[in-house]
Amino acid sequence: MIIAGNWKMFRGPDPHALGGLDAIVAPPFTRLRDCVDAGLTTYAQNVHWEAEGAFTGEISAPMLLELGVTGALVGHSERRQYFGETDEGVARRARAALAAGLAVIACVGETQEERDEGDTETVLQIQVGAIRNACGMHDRLLLAYEPVWAIGTGRTATPETAQDAHAFIKSLLDRPVLYGGSVKPDNADELMSQPDVDGALVGGASLDLDSFAALCLTASHS
Ligand code: 13P
Repeated sequence: MIIAGNWKMFRGPDPHALGGLDAIVAPPFTRLRDCVDAGLTTYAQNVHWEAEGAFTGEISAPMLLELGVTGALVGHSERRQYFGETDEGVARRARAALAAGLAVIACVGETQEERDEGDTETVLQIQVGAIRNACGMHDRLLLAYEPVWAIGTGRTATPETAQDAHAFIKSLLDRPVLYGGSVKPDNADELMSQPDVDGALVGGASLDLDSFAALCLTASHS
């Protein structure tokens, strides 16, 4: 069971206080070095497809590796929604990161509107398909199912809804799939007991030391 904390654009807890936890952390870029120095398995929240170049505001896989970073998230829905990232761009980011030697958590998931229209599987097919075509079944590639309607809303997918989506995603690309979307200590056990839920990508609850530690403990028993 894998627990990953996505700190988004929050400073997050003191990395040294997380020392004993078996978890991935994805802090903002300014805290990457602190997390690496604290001995944490550290992921960036994004990574560019080129090794270097005139790409203001971006960071490359070799730069992250130089810092001691282990992996990167790509395709988070907030990147897709607010910064115009496309399936093609996400796939390029994932492919380049893997080729350089990073691990990748590639995020997919449907919006509320897409779910209401009955388009969940079509959306997942397109998003996962782009990643599969670019990366194949790479052993450093993980996926995260993050239904957009459950992110930061307090609305969690039911364990059955998560299980159905995870099984569908694995039928497209058979890699471990983390669930993300309002995971908290009080719902983690049920979610992680689903056969195709291989861990959690946690936003808000990863910013609080006690709740993140509780999630790690739950994961260690699942
Ligand atoms: P929340 O756990 O705050 O809903 O965020 C989920 C997420 O986006 C993790 O990447």
